[in-house]
Amino acid sequence: MSEMFKRVNGTLLLDTSRPALDRAAAIIRGGGLVAFPTETVYGLGAAANDSNAVTKIFLAKGRPADNPLIVHISSPNQLTMVAEDIPDMAYDLAAKFWPGALSLVLKKAESVCAEVSAGLDTVAVRMPDHNTALKLIKLAKVPIAAPSANRSGKPSPTSYRHVLEDLSGRIDAVITDDGCAIGVESTVLDLSSHKPVILRPGGVSREELEDALHLKILVSGHKNRQGVPSSPGMKYRHYSPSAPLILFTGNKKRCEYVTNKIASAFRRKGLKVGVMNCFCGTGKDSFYRSQQIAADLYRDLRKMDLQNVDIIIAQASGNYGIGLAVMNRLRKAATRIIRVC
Ligand code: TXA
Ligand code: MG
Repeated sequence: MSEMFKRVNGTLLLDTSRPALDRAAAIIRGGGLVAFPTETVYGLGAAANDSNAVTKIFLAKGRPADNPLIVHISSPNQLTMVAEDIPDMAYDLAAKFWPGALSLVLKKAESVCAEVSAGLDTVAVRMPDHNTALKLIKLAKVPIAAPSANRSGKPSPTSYRHVLEDLSGRIDAVITDDGCAIGVESTVLDLSSHKPVILRPGGVSREELEDALHLKILVSGHKNRQGVPSSPGMKYRHYSPSAPLILFTGNKKRCEYVTNKIASAFRRKGLKVGVMNCFCGTGKDSFYRSQQIAADLYRDLRKMDLQNVDIIIAQASGNYGIGLAVMNRLRKAATRIIRVC
Protein backbone atom coordinates (compact mmCIF):
# COMPACT_ATOMS: atom_id res chain seq x y z
CA MET A 1 0.00 0.00 0.00
CA SER A 2 1.41 3.42 -0.90
CA GLU A 3 2.03 5.83 1.99
CA MET A 4 -0.63 8.56 2.36
CA PHE A 5 1.74 11.05 4.00
CA LYS A 6 5.09 12.53 3.02
CA ARG A 7 8.26 12.05 5.04
CA VAL A 8 11.35 14.18 5.63
CA ASN A 9 14.37 12.06 6.60
CA GLY A 10 11.92 9.41 7.76
CA THR A 11 9.81 11.78 9.90
CA LEU A 12 6.13 11.69 8.85
CA LEU A 13 4.47 15.00 7.96
CA LEU A 14 0.89 14.79 9.21
CA ASP A 15 -1.73 17.46 8.48
CA THR A 16 -4.73 18.26 10.66
CA SER A 17 -7.21 15.99 8.82
CA ARG A 18 -8.89 13.27 10.88
CA PRO A 19 -6.92 10.38 9.29
CA ALA A 20 -3.67 12.24 9.96
CA LEU A 21 -4.55 12.99 13.59
CA ASP A 22 -5.68 9.37 14.06
CA ARG A 23 -2.25 8.31 12.82
CA ALA A 24 -0.54 10.77 15.20
CA ALA A 25 -2.60 9.44 18.13
CA ALA A 26 -1.76 5.85 17.19
CA ILE A 27 1.95 6.74 17.16
CA ILE A 28 1.64 8.23 20.67
CA ARG A 29 -0.26 5.18 21.94
CA GLY A 30 2.33 2.91 20.35
CA GLY A 31 5.18 4.55 22.26
CA GLY A 32 6.39 6.95 19.52
CA LEU A 33 7.14 10.68 19.39
CA VAL A 34 4.93 13.29 17.67
CA ALA A 35 5.66 17.03 17.51
CA PHE A 36 2.47 19.08 17.71
CA PRO A 37 1.59 22.77 17.83
CA THR A 38 0.40 24.58 20.93
CA GLU A 39 -0.48 28.26 21.37
CA THR A 40 2.98 28.87 22.90
CA VAL A 41 5.56 26.79 20.99
CA TYR A 42 5.67 23.35 19.32
CA GLY A 43 5.81 20.45 21.78
CA LEU A 44 7.45 17.02 21.35
CA GLY A 45 4.91 14.57 22.72
CA ALA A 46 4.94 11.05 24.12
CA ALA A 47 2.46 9.14 26.32
CA ALA A 48 3.05 10.40 29.88
CA ASN A 49 2.54 6.92 31.35
CA ASP A 50 5.12 5.20 29.12
CA SER A 51 8.70 5.29 30.48
CA ASN A 52 10.29 4.04 27.25
CA ALA A 53 8.49 6.61 25.13
CA VAL A 54 9.38 9.46 27.50
CA THR A 55 13.02 8.36 27.52
CA LYS A 56 13.00 8.71 23.71
CA ILE A 57 12.10 12.41 24.12
CA PHE A 58 15.26 13.02 26.14
CA LEU A 59 17.36 11.15 23.54
CA ALA A 60 15.84 12.92 20.51
CA LYS A 61 16.35 16.37 22.06
CA GLY A 62 19.69 15.66 23.74
CA ARG A 63 18.01 16.89 26.91
CA PRO A 64 19.67 16.45 30.32
CA ALA A 65 17.82 13.69 32.20
CA ASP A 66 17.35 15.90 35.28
CA ASN A 67 15.11 18.43 33.49
CA PRO A 68 11.44 17.42 33.92
CA LEU A 69 8.69 17.68 31.29
CA ILE A 70 5.26 19.30 31.26
CA VAL A 71 2.23 16.99 31.01
CA HIS A 72 -0.53 18.19 28.65
CA ILE A 73 -4.18 17.35 29.31
CA SER A 74 -7.32 18.09 27.27
CA SER A 75 -9.66 18.98 30.15
CA PRO A 76 -9.29 20.20 33.75
CA ASN A 77 -11.16 16.99 34.71
CA GLN A 78 -7.99 15.07 33.84
CA LEU A 79 -6.00 16.87 36.55
CA THR A 80 -6.64 14.02 38.97
CA MET A 81 -5.15 11.56 36.45
CA VAL A 82 -1.74 13.22 36.80
CA ALA A 83 -1.67 15.03 40.18
CA GLU A 84 -2.61 14.40 43.83
CA ASP A 85 -3.50 16.56 46.84
CA ILE A 86 -4.54 19.29 44.42
CA PRO A 87 -5.08 22.61 46.26
CA ASP A 88 -8.21 24.70 45.59
CA MET A 89 -5.95 27.39 44.16
CA ALA A 90 -5.06 25.04 41.28
CA TYR A 91 -8.72 24.55 40.40
CA ASP A 92 -9.34 28.32 40.60
CA LEU A 93 -6.40 29.04 38.30
CA ALA A 94 -7.37 26.27 35.88
CA ALA A 95 -10.92 27.70 35.70
CA LYS A 96 -9.53 31.14 34.91
CA PHE A 97 -6.54 30.42 32.65
CA TRP A 98 -7.14 27.03 30.97
CA PRO A 99 -6.98 26.31 28.20
CA GLY A 100 -3.90 28.49 28.27
CA ALA A 101 -0.22 29.19 28.77
CA LEU A 102 -0.03 28.33 32.47
CA SER A 103 1.68 25.18 33.76
CA LEU A 104 0.94 24.28 37.39
CA VAL A 105 3.49 22.35 39.45
CA LEU A 106 1.60 19.95 41.74
CA LYS A 107 2.21 16.74 43.65
CA LYS A 108 2.70 13.96 41.09
CA ALA A 109 0.28 11.02 40.77
CA GLU A 110 1.61 7.44 40.46
CA SER A 111 0.37 7.06 36.88
CA VAL A 112 2.88 9.64 35.61
CA CYS A 113 6.18 7.87 35.04
CA ALA A 114 9.27 8.95 36.97
CA GLU A 115 11.12 9.96 33.76
CA VAL A 116 8.55 12.75 33.14
CA SER A 117 9.32 14.46 36.42
CA ALA A 118 13.03 13.57 36.35
CA GLY A 119 12.62 11.83 39.69
CA LEU A 120 10.92 14.77 41.46
CA ASP A 121 7.72 14.11 43.41
CA THR A 122 5.99 16.96 41.57
CA VAL A 123 4.61 17.29 38.05
CA ALA A 124 4.00 20.33 35.84
CA VAL A 125 0.65 20.18 34.02
CA ARG A 126 -1.25 22.36 31.57
CA MET A 127 -4.18 22.32 29.15
CA PRO A 128 -3.00 24.00 25.92
CA ASP A 129 -5.17 26.49 24.05
CA HIS A 130 -4.79 24.98 20.60
CA ASN A 131 -7.43 22.88 18.83
CA THR A 132 -4.96 20.51 17.19
CA ALA A 133 -3.17 19.83 20.48
CA LEU A 134 -6.47 19.22 22.27
CA LYS A 135 -7.73 16.88 19.52
CA LEU A 136 -4.47 14.91 19.62
CA ILE A 137 -4.62 14.44 23.41
CA LYS A 138 -8.27 13.33 23.19
CA LEU A 139 -7.61 10.89 20.35
CA ALA A 140 -4.51 9.48 22.09
CA LYS A 141 -6.68 8.91 25.20
CA VAL A 142 -3.69 9.57 27.43
CA PRO A 143 -2.05 12.71 28.90
CA ILE A 144 0.91 13.73 26.73
CA ALA A 145 4.30 14.68 28.18
CA ALA A 146 5.91 17.31 25.96
CA PRO A 147 8.86 19.66 26.20
CA SER A 148 9.47 22.23 23.46
CA ALA A 149 10.29 20.41 20.19
CA ASN A 150 13.81 21.80 19.67
CA ARG A 151 17.29 20.30 20.12
CA SER A 152 18.26 21.10 23.71
CA GLY A 153 19.80 24.57 24.00
CA LYS A 154 18.37 25.87 20.69
CA PRO A 155 15.56 28.44 20.37
CA SER A 156 12.13 26.81 20.77
CA PRO A 157 10.18 26.11 17.55
CA THR A 158 7.16 28.22 16.62
CA SER A 159 6.62 26.47 13.28
CA TYR A 160 6.79 22.85 12.11
CA ARG A 161 9.64 23.96 9.81
CA HIS A 162 11.71 24.82 12.89
CA VAL A 163 10.92 21.35 14.30
CA LEU A 164 12.18 19.74 11.10
CA GLU A 165 15.37 21.87 11.18
CA ASP A 166 16.21 20.39 14.58
CA LEU A 167 14.60 16.97 14.75
CA SER A 168 13.79 15.49 11.31
CA GLY A 169 14.90 11.87 11.29
CA ARG A 170 14.95 11.79 15.11
CA ILE A 171 11.18 11.71 15.72
CA ASP A 172 8.30 9.71 14.26
CA ALA A 173 6.04 12.54 13.08
CA VAL A 174 5.30 16.24 13.10
CA ILE A 175 1.87 17.81 12.65
CA THR A 176 2.16 20.46 9.94
CA ASP A 177 -0.06 23.07 11.50
CA ASP A 178 0.97 26.47 12.79
CA GLY A 179 -0.62 28.91 15.18
CA CYS A 180 1.98 29.24 17.95
CA ALA A 181 0.58 32.74 18.42
CA ILE A 182 2.11 33.54 21.82
CA GLY A 183 5.61 32.57 20.71
CA VAL A 184 7.20 31.96 24.14
CA GLU A 185 6.53 29.07 26.49
CA SER A 186 3.98 28.79 29.27
CA THR A 187 4.42 30.33 32.70
CA VAL A 188 5.51 27.63 35.17
CA LEU A 189 3.84 28.28 38.55
CA ASP A 190 4.83 26.17 41.53
CA LEU A 191 1.85 25.36 43.76
CA SER A 192 3.56 22.52 45.56
CA SER A 193 4.78 24.53 48.55
CA HIS A 194 2.96 26.99 50.80
CA LYS A 195 3.33 30.08 48.58
CA PRO A 196 2.88 30.17 44.78
CA VAL A 197 6.13 31.01 42.97
CA ILE A 198 6.72 31.63 39.26
CA LEU A 199 9.57 29.32 38.26
CA ARG A 200 9.55 30.48 34.65
CA PRO A 201 7.79 33.62 33.37
CA GLY A 202 5.75 32.96 30.22
CA GLY A 203 2.51 33.47 28.33
CA VAL A 204 0.36 34.24 31.40
CA SER A 205 1.79 37.31 33.11
CA ARG A 206 2.64 37.82 36.77
CA GLU A 207 0.14 40.72 36.85
CA GLU A 208 -2.69 38.46 35.59
CA LEU A 209 -1.87 35.85 38.24
CA GLU A 210 -1.67 38.44 41.01
CA ASP A 211 -5.07 39.87 39.95
CA ALA A 212 -6.60 36.40 39.96
CA LEU A 213 -5.16 35.34 43.33
CA HIS A 214 -5.21 38.74 45.08
CA LEU A 215 -1.67 38.27 46.30
CA LYS A 216 1.89 39.18 45.38
CA ILE A 217 3.68 36.41 43.53
CA LEU A 218 7.42 35.92 43.64
CA VAL A 219 9.36 35.23 40.48
CA SER A 220 12.06 32.79 41.45
CA GLY A 221 15.66 33.69 40.69
CA HIS A 222 18.08 31.29 39.10
CA LYS A 223 18.79 29.58 42.43
CA ASN A 224 17.10 29.37 45.80
CA ARG A 225 18.81 30.34 49.09
CA GLN A 226 20.47 26.95 49.36
CA GLY A 227 22.02 27.45 45.90
CA VAL A 228 19.81 24.75 44.34
CA PRO A 229 18.15 25.62 40.99
CA SER A 230 14.44 26.22 41.80
CA SER A 231 13.36 24.69 38.51
CA PRO A 232 15.80 22.23 36.99
CA GLY A 233 15.50 23.85 33.56
CA MET A 234 16.74 27.18 34.95
CA LYS A 235 20.34 26.08 35.26
CA TYR A 236 21.01 25.45 31.57
CA ARG A 237 21.88 27.91 28.82
CA HIS A 238 18.87 27.91 26.54
CA TYR A 239 17.15 29.37 23.53
CA SER A 240 20.53 30.06 21.94
CA PRO A 241 21.34 30.59 18.29
CA SER A 242 24.77 29.43 17.10
CA ALA A 243 26.39 32.88 17.03
CA PRO A 244 27.33 34.54 20.34
CA LEU A 245 24.62 36.94 21.54
CA ILE A 246 25.48 40.10 23.46
CA LEU A 247 22.49 41.51 25.31
CA PHE A 248 22.34 45.24 26.08
CA THR A 249 19.72 46.29 28.58
CA GLY A 250 18.78 49.58 30.19
CA ASN A 251 17.72 52.99 28.93
CA LYS A 252 16.49 52.67 25.32
CA LYS A 253 18.19 55.78 23.87
CA ARG A 254 21.52 55.02 25.55
CA CYS A 255 21.35 51.36 24.47
CA GLU A 256 20.71 52.37 20.87
CA TYR A 257 23.65 54.81 20.94
CA VAL A 258 26.04 52.25 22.42
CA THR A 259 24.94 49.32 20.25
CA ASN A 260 25.22 51.39 17.03
CA LYS A 261 28.82 52.18 17.91
CA ILE A 262 29.63 48.58 18.81
CA ALA A 263 27.92 47.14 15.72
CA SER A 264 29.92 49.53 13.50
CA ALA A 265 33.15 48.52 15.21
CA PHE A 266 32.41 44.81 14.61
CA ARG A 267 31.52 45.51 10.97
CA ARG A 268 34.78 47.38 10.45
CA LYS A 269 36.52 44.20 11.60
CA GLY A 270 34.71 42.35 8.79
CA LEU A 271 32.17 40.57 11.00
CA LYS A 272 28.55 40.00 9.94
CA VAL A 273 26.44 41.53 12.71
CA GLY A 274 22.77 40.75 13.41
CA VAL A 275 20.85 43.32 15.45
CA MET A 276 17.64 42.56 17.35
CA ASN A 277 15.50 45.28 18.82
CA CYS A 278 13.38 43.88 21.66
CA PHE A 279 12.47 46.90 23.80
CA CYS A 280 9.25 45.80 25.47
CA GLY A 281 8.70 48.79 27.74
CA THR A 282 7.74 48.79 31.37
CA GLY A 283 4.10 49.82 31.59
CA LYS A 284 0.60 48.91 30.42
CA ASP A 285 1.09 50.91 27.21
CA SER A 286 3.75 48.37 26.19
CA PHE A 287 1.23 45.49 26.17
CA TYR A 288 0.74 45.03 22.39
CA ARG A 289 4.34 45.80 21.45
CA SER A 290 5.71 43.22 23.87
CA GLN A 291 3.20 40.62 22.63
CA GLN A 292 4.48 41.14 19.09
CA ILE A 293 8.11 40.92 20.20
CA ALA A 294 7.36 37.65 22.04
CA ALA A 295 5.53 36.22 19.02
CA ASP A 296 8.56 36.87 16.75
CA LEU A 297 11.39 36.21 19.23
CA TYR A 298 12.35 32.60 18.45
CA ARG A 299 11.76 32.98 14.72
CA ASP A 300 14.11 35.99 14.74
CA LEU A 301 16.77 34.13 16.75
CA ARG A 302 16.60 31.24 14.27
CA LYS A 303 16.82 33.69 11.36
CA MET A 304 20.18 34.85 12.70
CA ASP A 305 21.46 31.28 12.26
CA LEU A 306 20.05 31.03 8.74
CA GLN A 307 21.75 34.32 7.83
CA ASN A 308 25.03 32.99 9.23
CA VAL A 309 25.79 36.07 11.29
CA ASP A 310 29.02 36.08 13.30
CA ILE A 311 27.63 37.99 16.24
CA ILE A 312 24.20 39.05 17.49
CA ILE A 313 23.56 42.29 19.32
CA ALA A 314 20.20 42.30 21.10
CA GLN A 315 18.84 45.39 22.79
CA ALA A 316 16.04 44.82 25.24
CA SER A 317 14.32 46.01 28.37
CA GLY A 318 10.96 45.50 30.01
CA ASN A 319 9.37 43.67 32.88
CA TYR A 320 5.66 44.19 32.30
CA GLY A 321 3.34 41.42 31.06
CA ILE A 322 5.00 39.09 28.60
CA GLY A 323 8.02 41.44 28.52
CA LEU A 324 9.25 39.61 31.63
CA ALA A 325 9.33 36.34 29.65
CA VAL A 326 11.09 37.98 26.68
CA MET A 327 13.81 39.34 28.98
CA ASN A 328 14.14 35.97 30.72
CA ARG A 329 14.66 34.14 27.39
CA LEU A 330 17.15 36.71 26.08
CA ARG A 331 19.17 36.58 29.29
CA LYS A 332 19.39 32.80 29.00
CA ALA A 333 20.32 32.99 25.30
CA ALA A 334 23.03 35.58 25.92
CA THR A 335 26.74 34.83 26.10
CA ARG A 336 27.26 38.28 27.64
CA ILE A 337 24.91 40.80 29.27
CA ILE A 338 25.82 44.48 29.41
CA ARG A 339 23.76 46.92 31.43
CA VAL A 340 23.85 50.40 29.89
CA CYS A 341 23.31 53.20 32.43
O1 TXA B 1 4.62 26.31 26.62
C1 TXA B 1 5.25 25.37 27.11
O2 TXA B 1 5.42 25.24 28.32
C2 TXA B 1 5.84 24.34 26.12
C3 TXA B 1 4.67 23.67 25.38
C4 TXA B 1 5.12 22.56 24.47
O3 TXA B 1 3.72 23.26 26.30
N1 TXA B 1 6.63 23.37 26.82
C5 TXA B 1 7.84 23.67 27.35
O4 TXA B 1 8.47 22.59 27.93
O5 TXA B 1 8.33 24.76 27.32
P1 TXA B 1 10.01 22.60 28.34
O6 TXA B 1 10.32 21.22 28.70
O7 TXA B 1 10.79 23.20 27.25
O8 TXA B 1 10.06 23.47 29.63
C6 TXA B 1 9.49 22.97 30.83
C7 TXA B 1 10.00 23.78 32.01
C8 TXA B 1 11.45 23.50 32.33
O9 TXA B 1 12.08 24.71 32.77
C9 TXA B 1 11.34 22.50 33.49
O10 TXA B 1 12.47 22.53 34.34
C10 TXA B 1 10.09 23.01 34.20
O11 TXA B 1 9.22 23.41 33.14
N2 TXA B 1 9.42 21.95 34.97
C11 TXA B 1 8.76 20.86 34.48
N3 TXA B 1 8.33 20.08 35.49
C12 TXA B 1 8.71 20.68 36.65
C13 TXA B 1 8.58 20.34 38.03
N4 TXA B 1 7.95 19.25 38.42
N5 TXA B 1 9.11 21.21 38.94
C14 TXA B 1 9.76 22.33 38.55
N6 TXA B 1 9.93 22.70 37.24
C15 TXA B 1 9.42 21.88 36.31
MG1 MG C 1 12.25 24.08 26.18
